[in-house]
Amino acid sequence: MAAIEEQIRVLICQGTGGLASGAKEVELAFRAEFEKHGVDAKVGKRCTVVGTGCRGLCANDVLVDIVIPGQEAVTYDFVKAELVPQLVEEHILTGQVVEKKKAGPYYQKFLEKQMRVVFSRCGTIDAESLEDFLAHDGFVGIRKAVTMKPQEVIEEVKKSGLRGRGGGGFPTGVKWSFCAASPGTDKYLICNADEGDPGAFMDRSILEGDPYGLIEGMMIASYAIGAKNGYVYVRAEYPLAIKRLQKAIDVCYEKGFLGKNCLGLGFDFDLRIKAGAGAFVCGEETALMASIEGERGMPRPRPPFPAVRGLWTKPTNINNVETFANVSYIFYRGAEWFASIGTEGTKGTKIFALTGKIKHTGLVEVPAGITMREVIYDVCGGILNNRKFKAVQAGGPSGGCLPGEAIDAQVDYDSLIKAGAMMGSGGLVVMDETTCMVDIARFFLNFTRMESCGKCVPCRIGLKIMLDILERITEGKGHPGDIDLLQDMCFDIKKASLCGLGQTAPNPVLSTIRYFRHEYEAHIEHQRCPSNSCKSLLKFEVVEAACKKCGLCFKVCPVDAVRWEKGQLAVIDKDKCTRCTSCYDACRFMAIE
Ligand SMILES: Cc1cc2nc3c(=O)[nH]c(=O)nc-3n(C[C@H](O)[C@H](O)[C@H](O)COP(=O)(O)O)c2cc1C
Ligand code: SF4
Ligand code: SF4
Ligand code: FES
Repeated sequence: MAAIEEQIRVLICQGTGGLASGAKEVELAFRAEFEKHGVDAKVGKRCTVVGTGCRGLCANDVLVDIVIPGQEAVTYDFVKAELVPQLVEEHILTGQVVEKKKAGPYYQKFLEKQMRVVFSRCGTIDAESLEDFLAHDGFVGIRKAVTMKPQEVIEEVKKSGLRGRGGGGFPTGVKWSFCAASPGTDKYLICNADEGDPGAFMDRSILEGDPYGLIEGMMIASYAIGAKNGYVYVRAEYPLAIKRLQKAIDVCYEKGFLGKNCLGLGFDFDLRIKAGAGAFVCGEETALMASIEGERGMPRPRPPFPAVRGLWTKPTNINNVETFANVSYIFYRGAEWFASIGTEGTKGTKIFALTGKIKHTGLVEVPAGITMREVIYDVCGGILNNRKFKAVQAGGPSGGCLPGEAIDAQVDYDSLIKAGAMMGSGGLVVMDETTCMVDIARFFLNFTRMESCGKCVPCRIGLKIMLDILERITEGKGHPGDIDLLQDMCFDIKKASLCGLGQTAPNPVLSTIRYFRHEYEAHIEHQRCPSNSCKSLLKFEVVEAACKKCGLCFKVCPVDAVRWEKGQLAVIDKDKCTRCTSCYDACRFMAIE
């Protein structure tokens, strides 16, 4: 087979997003065109089609790269099967790039400030091919690790400064040393791929795009700790991730890379997948282990910590997918190299999942310490419809909302905590001036309340009462004293809850009160939503002074409740209006009240 660098390669994104947008049809179309034209013979090179993992810009799928040896790769976006004959005839056969269909300059900008380390193989290699993995540094890390003593491997991870990417940010090497030091020979290693944060899909992308990379990280950990058995706990809603990982595990067993005497390197490691039912609380370590043991996924008090008494009562080490994926790179390139990236307290890169009112939603991997402004404006193109940036919710449902002034905050563990949010697993929800902060607090609290396992009364009942209060406020039925009551309840629930879910669930309420107290007051004292967003408080009237007479509201109204003519003010007929908010969302000038 021709070496990769001598082939023409067509890289087609086949992550979940790519497949949902028709990547399989695009692949079949390329194969059919290659056959029809006898492309290999005509260009004198082998043309291969490669199904890759996610590139992070799923909204622009299907993304296709055409890579001709000696030339710069060209990326096409929104590719459909119908475009493929033109791409083959013009780009591959005659060398003429189809300029009109190329991804715009935004794509280059999207990549410019990123540093794709964990993602370096996602979107580049055939996610299902062991050969491709091996051709891209695969298993170099584990081969290096076994030349060291297990204790030295742990020291190397400590030296790198790697901190857990699952939310807590605990130093990985230190965590490994606890489990390694626990007495006993039956130890377990668990990869937490539960990924419950709404909007986050970085772990899924790693599993889909580089499953062998995760296996390698886990092998290094198993060697360091002396754990002979491992589980990857993946939520069942990730069928493609499970399929690709299972295939990779099967291939590793066939080749003798897993099981007894892994890769012939003198250590044993068995690895299997446990599919979880997708309850958010099962991401908590003790609940996760209960779930693997076949019990209801409910947390238990700690201590004893998993490193002492974990799965099946044995010492257990649990790390997140992104954490394990980082480990291989620490051994490919050295702890010093890893520690040279990022800030004093946060080394390496971090993957963020950006959602909300932003131009390019998706996954980005950046060096820790770059600013929120760079991530939002430089990488992701800024705020949708060029509206004003208002706030960002960092750290998932239990993180905090930071105000506009935080735009220059660095994204690292310490800076985010100082600003009143947290890194969490890397979810960033971006909000513009049309977002009501009381409603956002309500939204996140609704999520955590639904996901509470119900074991502790403060979490089970307290969150429900807080939610009722927030709902009342967004309907203009708030009472004087509600804000103080909410704050008191937040502190009590945080203090009295058993697990991280209850201990952090009040954070969105606390942070929105801290930074946006005036919005709570406007709802309670004046029955007014300053962002004109709470539906019950919207009047559905056009503000004359703000209306630019563009007619956008007229075009989107599904029930013809808007009267408008070119150059005229829009008028809403309240009898016809169903309060669907389409006009409000569409208006770029905040002219609907
Ligand atoms: C309610 C709750 C949900 C969690 N969900 C996840 C999750 O989906 N994935 C994850 O890796 N960690 C999750 N965590 C954190 C884990 O319990 C654990 O700290 C982490 O997996 C450890 O790995 P790390 O040290 O590599 O970060 C969750 C914690 C809590 C309290
Ligand atoms: S804090 Fe909430 S989720 Fe955690 S154990 Fe208690 S009830 Fe369950
Ligand atoms: S809220 Fe919906 S129904 Fe009412 S005017 Fe606007 S678009 Fe039409
Ligand atoms: S799945 Fe294609 S870019 Fe994410």
